[in-house]
Amino acid sequence: MDHLSDLKLTRRDLLIASAVTASASAVPSLAGAQTPKGATAAMPGATAAVPPVIGKVSMRINGKQQQLQVDTRTTLLDVLRENLQLTGTKKGCDLGQCGACTVLIDGRRINSCLTLAVMHEGASVTTIEGLGTPDKLHAMQQAFIKHDGYQCGYCTPGQICSAVAVIDEIKAGLPSHVSGSLTEKPLFSAAELRERMSGNICRCGAYSNIIDAITDYANSMPGAKA
Ligand code: FES
Ligand code: FES
Repeated sequence: MDHLSDLKLTRRDLLIASAVTASASAVPSLAGAQTPKGATAAMPGATAAVPPVIGKVSMRINGKQQQLQVDTRTTLLDVLRENLQLTGTKKGCDLGQCGACTVLIDGRRINSCLTLAVMHEGASVTTIEGLGTPDKLHAMQQAFIKHDGYQCGYCTPGQICSAVAVIDEIKAGLPSHVSGSLTEKPLFSAAELRERMSGNICRCGAYSNIIDAITDYANSMPGAKA
């Protein structure tokens, strides 16, 4: 075919051809899915559906003891959002790549989309709702507001939970990739904060203000000068 004008297929022909192709691919599966009596038959090679396994887990969430019965495959993130309606914790990627779902477990930060709820029997979980309330904000929340550390706010609960844990990690002397020494106490420097917050993605690009907010919070703590 030398030129587009040689193409004789009309839009109508194309639609008819597409419909025929779709029906042809659908027919075998419909035929295979029915027994002569109309009952559903197993597809060749298909395995029987396995019913969910329900597990019990008891956790202290934002200071309140919770007894839960959940499908053992349920992530902590889904339990928080779907079972307990704690929707402050956000689902961004659901793959451990954005940090929007960060919460604190026994004071340490974790991506709640990457961990199963039943793995945390007896744990103490803190979400953004447990850090502060609109009437009584956590000092880190106040610092984010003061420094405009957000735009759309979707990443903000995860950023704030992460930031609170970062401060504790530095105070505890845990080194990061940019720490000058593995034995000396790390500094509350912008480089340290940026490195430690690098797992929390902000699609709005509020990074500079987020670091300003965390630095301000760090400076307000006794013995934690940035
Ligand atoms: S939703 Fe968990 S890391 Fe993105
Ligand atoms: S404030 Fe919008 S994604 Fe961070």
